[in-house]
Amino acid sequence: MLRHTRVLVSGLAAVTLAVTTAPLRGQVRVASPDGRNQVTVEVREGRLTWRLTRDGRALILPSLLGFEFRGAPPLLGALRITDTTRQSHDEWWTQPWGEVARVRDHHNELAVSVEETAAPNRRFVLRVRAFDDGVGFRYEFPEQPGLGAFEITDELTEFALADNARAWWIPSNRPRMDRSEMLYSEGPMSLLDSVQTPLTMETRDGRTFMVIHEANLVDYARMDLAGRRGESRTLRAALAPLADGIKVRGRTPFVTPWRTMQLADRATDLAPSVLGLNLNPPNVLAGTDWIRPMKYVGIWWGLHIGAMTWGAGPRHGATTANARRYIDFAAANGFGGVLVEGWNVGWDGDWIANRSAFSFTRAYPDYDLAEVAAYARRKGVRLIVHNETSGGIENYERQMDSAFALYRSLGLDAIKTGYVTDTTSEGHSHWSQYMVRHYRRVIETAARYGIMLDVHEPIHDTGERRTWPNMMTREGSRGQEYNAWGGDGGNPPEHETILFFTRLLAGPMDFTPGIFDLLIERGTGRPRRPDEPRVRTTLAKQLALYVTIYSPLQMAADLPENYEGQPAFQFIRDVAVDWDTTRVLDARIGDYVAVARRERGGQTWFVGAITDEEGRTLDVPLSFLTPGRRYVAEIYADGPNAHWLDNPLPVTITRRAVSSATWLRLVLAPGGGQAIRIRPAG
Ligand code: NOJ
Ligand code: CA
Repeated sequence: MLRHTRVLVSGLAAVTLAVTTAPLRGQVRVASPDGRNQVTVEVREGRLTWRLTRDGRALILPSLLGFEFRGAPPLLGALRITDTTRQSHDEWWTQPWGEVARVRDHHNELAVSVEETAAPNRRFVLRVRAFDDGVGFRYEFPEQPGLGAFEITDELTEFALADNARAWWIPSNRPRMDRSEMLYSEGPMSLLDSVQTPLTMETRDGRTFMVIHEANLVDYARMDLAGRRGESRTLRAALAPLADGIKVRGRTPFVTPWRTMQLADRATDLAPSVLGLNLNPPNVLAGTDWIRPMKYVGIWWGLHIGAMTWGAGPRHGATTANARRYIDFAAANGFGGVLVEGWNVGWDGDWIANRSAFSFTRAYPDYDLAEVAAYARRKGVRLIVHNETSGGIENYERQMDSAFALYRSLGLDAIKTGYVTDTTSEGHSHWSQYMVRHYRRVIETAARYGIMLDVHEPIHDTGERRTWPNMMTREGSRGQEYNAWGGDGGNPPEHETILFFTRLLAGPMDFTPGIFDLLIERGTGRPRRPDEPRVRTTLAKQLALYVTIYSPLQMAADLPENYEGQPAFQFIRDVAVDWDTTRVLDARIGDYVAVARRERGGQTWFVGAITDEEGRTLDVPLSFLTPGRRYVAEIYADGPNAHWLDNPLPVTITRRAVSSATWLRLVLAPGGGQAIRIRPAG
């Protein structure tokens, strides 16, 4: 018998509480508020399992839950359910910035108390939350005689897929790839061996989209997924190791991150993804006024195309004079920030090998940090300080307080960090518990000094920004920089149409769009050979990326001189970086996506549509506009015969009157896109 106590909290939140008094069987269930998603937790022959159905159809078959430890028996068999409690929650909360302003956290929760029937009689709680857009569960270990300090060698959580779903994935077990900067592959999930999350899948009948990820990763190892290539459809949690092979060290009381599975009927319903945010604690910062989304430019692309250097020399990029030039450009064009890379001592020679030599306070002699900071302040521009650690973690942590204090004293409130490494200087995996703690420490320290963060080579996003809104954006995927380098030749035209449904479901990405000199000619001062690096999009697609790839810090990545005399640059000046609403209008993963977003606190909408190597025509209704209101659409479309390969530059800019009844026909060139600003008329 269930005894429900319904507590209605006026206005915003309604909370239902209920406590079971039922005699316990081996099986308990919780369903989402709409009843469609149902998780069953069950003890089968002493082992704890979970499974998931949607509309009564199995998505996850009974899947193992448990752990292995060093120096203690596995927590796996001889288990029984001793108690369950339930509660429901319905609340709207507001993000200080985001893809959407308001988020609804509406879920039913089931907490299952589990105990070993034999010594050491360890106990834990499996907490499950069922939302309309997915489910999450985590393990909680209370303080207890049989479990104090522990060392986890393996987490046994499984996801036994009922269907050989189609997956979009990047590997996690290849050497030198601890940075998520890979191209996505697509294929049946049964062929996966080791992959990163978010892992996006579509059932073979196309009825359900599923995304496995994690939320609220605080003091644990990052989770990847290991499959048994060709042998089964079961994926298992695979935790990144510390230097000594242990996955997680802890002491009760202890909670794990949430294991999450987002669910949707259509690809267009996957974004914006808020499941992970709802599974993180609310904002802990007293005030967030100083945290402001912005567009920025910087001494950056020139470094990657070889026109400038990070280290000292005749082409040193971070000179006082150069920084002032970028600040002037930012101020003249209404950009909020200027990033300066290569300003601090440590870049000369092999900066990855010499990672412990980076200073985060000492500038090169040709860069006057205080002067540049003062100049930026006078111009109303924020200087974004660059801290590349190369994975020299102790070196960074030793300097962090004094460096952040210096930046603050100069009025600097944004840092871009970097972790170009696979293993830290201390020998730990880039994704280990050690690094998870480090990334958190940086977020918390930065918050104390009033500093916003843009993290490159990060741990994947697990929703930290809800609790710590100074954690703005991160890389954690293959960004524009790959188009500047040689090697395997940059990102193919389909890349961003996959990113939208994979990496970006975790959170914002500092992709750094906006390259206009797509053949990278002017920065190098000479035409490039066909086999040299270039950008594989049209120019209109570079504009559309500002709307499709969400980031609260959004770069105009090209050299300022490449924007001169370019009418299309107006779109980058106009586009918003903070949103009230986001709607995915049309999409097919890996083929194309069209998104509409309304600027935060305003009535102007922006539409971005991108395609892969195929040209396409999309008809999109503007029914999201306010009915009865007149708008002007400023349309930046691929020009006549535009093609990413041999004619990427033509952009046609037109204006037309539109309303909520208008359908727009978007003609996208191969590798192309379209960017539209829709503002109220008059
Ligand atoms: C890799 C980052 O992604 C890039 O943005 C940065 O310029 C380099 N590391 C140097 O820190
Ligand atoms: Ca990178």
